[in-house]
Amino acid sequence: MKELELACESFRKLVQEQLDRVANAKSEKVDYSTKKTVTIGIVDGDGIGPIITGEAVKVLEHLLKDEIAAGSIVLKKIEGLTIENRLALNEAVPKAVLEEIKTCDVLLKGPTTTPMGGKMESANVTLRRELDLYANVRPVSIPEEGIDWMFYRENTEGEYVLGSRGVELPGLAMDFKVTTDFGTRRIARAAFEYAKNNGKTRVSIVTKANIMKKTDGKFTAICHEVAQDYPDITVDDWYIDIMTANLVNTKLRNQFQVILLPNLYGDIITDEAAQIQGGVGTAGSANIGDRYAMFEAIHGSAPRMIERGQGEYANPASMVKASAMLLRHICRVDAAERLEKAMDACDVVVSRYTPGATAYAYTDALIKLL
Ligand code: IPM
Ligand code: MG
Repeated sequence: MKELELACESFRKLVQEQLDRVANAKSEKVDYSTKKTVTIGIVDGDGIGPIITGEAVKVLEHLLKDEIAAGSIVLKKIEGLTIENRLALNEAVPKAVLEEIKTCDVLLKGPTTTPMGGKMESANVTLRRELDLYANVRPVSIPEEGIDWMFYRENTEGEYVLGSRGVELPGLAMDFKVTTDFGTRRIARAAFEYAKNNGKTRVSIVTKANIMKKTDGKFTAICHEVAQDYPDITVDDWYIDIMTANLVNTKLRNQFQVILLPNLYGDIITDEAAQIQGGVGTAGSANIGDRYAMFEAIHGSAPRMIERGQGEYANPASMVKASAMLLRHICRVDAAERLEKAMDACDVVVSRYTPGATAYAYTDALIKLL
């Protein structure tokens, strides 16, 4: 069958590409404590993106006004990463936009719309790959319940790396999942280092290695190998199905600390965790690589809110939290702490249901608390 031949040929190419990806990977770490100028790229995104990103930028401009005036921090607006432009050019991230992004150090990015089906890759996935943002770091905390979770989600491999390049034959469709020693080792290292440096005593590895034997089996094995360098940290293994149940088990859930997992499980469970915290609108997300980093909301662009004319009720807290993570990443710890304290103290609840405040009312109140 001709289709079979074509599929096998394209599979060979995919495998070769993945081998090359690992062989050519490089790491150039940036030291933000000494870097003279830090450029923060601002990408609005789609749907509610421009509203919540705009509000987060107001907060950053306020917090960083001295450094912006002195030129040690530059906020650089990047246009063109809109769904309209991406579709018109038929590029997930238009080349010119990517080049501009690469002139920045870090990025604050609003949610972008991902077309369902079709061939176009999600802009997020493209950016994570092109900028090699391998660690997706997502904190969730509920102090009243003693919950302080930190998710370390592998961000460049798994089901995502070839997600838009599966194979379709008449009556059959196949997608691929890729796990490498290299990719697993670096996310595991990041998770254990976080644990060690932040007084955490437990790392929980979450997979479905009873079913995805090769890929998740490798992920588990490599994580345990890395764990040997951290004898003071307790390590345990869970399957993703029971872990989703654990997170709604109020007797157990506050015992988890750092949760280390492959890409797709990390995607799914962090939405669950964010909902437990108070809604996806309350959760920020960091995509960290050695050279670049990108900070965003955990959620999507909410096109339905825009269609219903409710955009001003989108919660900017997700982007503001992402901004606090950005500040920590570029070693502006004082500014990050000021922002986190103000967020804790701000009692304005953004909601489209009555009584509820707008995004703008939230930011006004927050800035007064800074
Ligand atoms: C996330 C999002 C993305 C993902 C989408 C937008 C591709 O859901 O950051 O969690 O699946 O990773
Ligand atoms: Mg997600």
